[in-house]
Amino acid sequence: MKAAVFHAARDIRVEDVPAPTGVGPREVLVRPSWCGICGTDLHEYAMGPIVTPAAPHPLNGSVIPQILGHEFSAEVIEVGREVTRVRAGDRISAMPLLVDHECYYCRRGLDHLCMKMACVGLSYAWGGIAELAVLPERILTVLPDEVSDLQGALVEPSAVAAYGVDAGCVKPGDSVLITGAGPIGALAALYAALLGARVFVSEPNPARRALIRSLGVAEVLDPSTTDVAAWLKDLLHGVGVDAVIECSGNERALQTALASVRSAGRVVQTGLHTRPASIDAMLLAQRDIALIGTWCYPVTDFPRIAGLIASGRFPVEKIVTAKIAIDHIIERGFDALLSPAGDQVKVLVNARG
Ligand SMILES: NC(=O)c1ccc[n+]([C@@H]2O[C@H](COP(=O)([O-])OP(=O)(O)OC[C@H]3O[C@@H](n4cnc5c(N)ncnc54)[C@H](O)[C@@H]3O)[C@@H](O)[C@H]2O)c1
Ligand SMILES: [Zn+2]
Repeated sequence: MKAAVFHAARDIRVEDVPAPTGVGPREVLVRPSWCGICGTDLHEYAMGPIVTPAAPHPLNGSVIPQILGHEFSAEVIEVGREVTRVRAGDRISAMPLLVDHECYYCRRGLDHLCMKMACVGLSYAWGGIAELAVLPERILTVLPDEVSDLQGALVEPSAVAAYGVDAGCVKPGDSVLITGAGPIGALAALYAALLGARVFVSEPNPARRALIRSLGVAEVLDPSTTDVAAWLKDLLHGVGVDAVIECSGNERALQTALASVRSAGRVVQTGLHTRPASIDAMLLAQRDIALIGTWCYPVTDFPRIAGLIASGRFPVEKIVTAKIAIDHIIERGFDALLSPAGDQVKVLVNARG
């Protein structure tokens, strides 16, 4: 079968790999529909292996070369004999986190912090950018009829964004700044708006600002020409926003976040900083600011996110800027997303050809 396989930095190949030969009792054979390329995939491509295992993974022994793809929807083809929750023909979204169920965190219901965490499409035998994959039944969410295959591929990044906004304790009527309008920031803007917040998004890239404007849910600021914190204070009683969801992993954006939030407000660090960032920590104490990090999402959140999409109030498909076939994944996927002048935000790949 055809799959997009990570071998090394700048070496992702669309190649023929052996198809799965069967399923275990609690496993399911699926045919992926759409699969998103995410920032983690881009990092692997640019300078991996980082998350993909160069040595056998402690949870499941997986090792590169690795079939990519962890944001995907799929159709169920075959189920193992003990599978009860899904059947052939169901459309599903896969929650890709794989955990040991026995470490300190798993025993406390914090599976997303599992000490041996692996991930479908990053550290597992199969991935979503392939014609077929074998998955454990327990990670599958059956998609309601109202949720398209394309939307189903966006449940995973939507769960990341929603967890960030939820960590900000955003309530109806709150004002929220989102720094960074990549896929995560754009989805956070949609989600904060559906919660009833007044949403502001700061983003230096003009194409991405235009995408946010087209969503119609947020006021959009350019941090390279506007003093975002001063502008928000001017507008909002001289105090700033109730919460900031930092979705860029950029040091200046985090500083802007701390300067823009009101006293006793919350700053959520969802973006990943690839090097240490310097902040004025005095602000946290002086102004009662809570600075909170989020990692992935609660592993149980996919059915809720799929339900929100089904309701029509969470139009996640609007952030998709390209749908491509697997054969074009390098030029139209990875290279297009990594190009500094590029205007792509979310690229979805179809391995069915
Ligand atoms: N916490 C998690 O579990 C988790 C999961 C997925 C992704 N992430 C991280 O979330 C972040 C967002 O993901 P993404 O895929 O949307 O990334 P992305 O790189 O596509 O988007 C980041 C955006 O931030 C913008 N930006 C840069 N400097 C800025 C500034 N000073 N102010 C405002 N915006 C600025 C960039 O122009 C870019 O559009 C990344 O850091 C990613 O690694 C975290
Ligand atoms: Zn664990």
